[in-house]
Amino acid sequence: MNDFFKDLGRTVLEQWKRENFSLSSFPGIAQKALEDHPPATSVDLSEFMREFLLNDEQPQQTHSGFGQPELVAYHHPKFYIQLLFWLDGTTDIHQHEFSGAFHVMSGSSIHAHFKFENAQSITPHFRVGDVRMQNIELLETGRTVPIISGSSCIHSLFHLDTPSITVVVRTQHDPGTGPQFNYLPPHVAMDPVLDDSLTMRRKQLLDVMAQVEDPDYVEVVIEMINELDFERGFFILQNCMGPLHQLGAWDAVLETYQKKHGDLASGIPATLEEYVRRDVIKEMRGSITDPEHRFFLALLMNVPTKKDLLPLIQQRFSDVPPIDTVLRWAEELGGETESGIALLDAFFPETLEIEAEEQPAIYLTALKHFIEGSKKVPAELRKLSSSQIKELRASLESSSLCVLLR
Ligand SMILES: [Fe+2]
Repeated sequence: MNDFFKDLGRTVLEQWKRENFSLSSFPGIAQKALEDHPPATSVDLSEFMREFLLNDEQPQQTHSGFGQPELVAYHHPKFYIQLLFWLDGTTDIHQHEFSGAFHVMSGSSIHAHFKFENAQSITPHFRVGDVRMQNIELLETGRTVPIISGSSCIHSLFHLDTPSITVVVRTQHDPGTGPQFNYLPPHVAMDPVLDDSLTMRRKQLLDVMAQVEDPDYVEVVIEMINELDFERGFFILQNCMGPLHQLGAWDAVLETYQKKHGDLASGIPATLEEYVRRDVIKEMRGSITDPEHRFFLALLMNVPTKKDLLPLIQQRFSDVPPIDTVLRWAEELGGETESGIALLDAFFPETLEIEAEEQPAIYLTALKHFIEGSKKVPAELRKLSSSQIKELRASLESSSLCVLLR
């Protein structure tokens, strides 16, 4: 066992015991211990890894799939210390069924806090309401943040460097604070460990039907949506969205769900759209390693409007106007692709019939124009008709850059 974490664990244990293991005192104790003995400056990572790999005397490890991977560095029946490695991972928006504190040992992350308002429980594992971002901040190496169990601490992390490593000092489990909801903005909370194996198998069977192009696929999905309750119907919609879009049947299926569930379903279309948008960004993250570009993706994923987004860019890259930085990133992350000229994942509409070499400049000017929101059309766009300008806007609105137009 690594000596640093053994000492850190003992320090936490002694102090918490003095507080009679009161749950409410634990986050403060964990935070202070990490701030007084910061792993970021006290732990030699390669030495830690060698010791973990070569010495058999290690704390009990878990089977957790969280982290890439998770290593337990200290274990006590009431709490433990874990190291979470992150390679290309980003966390979903989530809350915890444990408390303590986390510390950025290596790398840096974008950290966003959320609130879930107007919550309405559908089942003990599924809620509808309004997911709202409260604040977003950059966590540099060495920062420590408390974790409170339950819905008062809903957050997400987007790691900027590879690897990013966080140290978490946490209780085993805080009874009564579950489930550990994941949030799908803007309107859904769901229990990620909900054990519904029948639904899981049904989704897999539907995937088989989609893959073999079974002619009954759409009809069966519509029948299921008519039969199933709100929660399970949602999971079927979520699972079948891709194939249904390809088959041109998405609108009909969504309408069936909305007809069946009325007002309760009003936030579901926006939630599913946002789910796909976030998924696209997550996937891009896997192949984008430049920390500046990851920072941009983190903002696109978590910040709801340009009014919130531009000041965050200004704060970090203060010598250039934030719109110019955005345009540079959008251009660097796009260029000429197999599907045409792109700015990140927005593709220049082919229907405009504009020469390929003119497209990048026009697209960037259009993006700038839409972000600025001015009524005056810039000279570069004047040769386009208003419907062509609308097409350019629509192509950006259906991409990850849509936040910049809101
Ligand atoms: Fe967390």
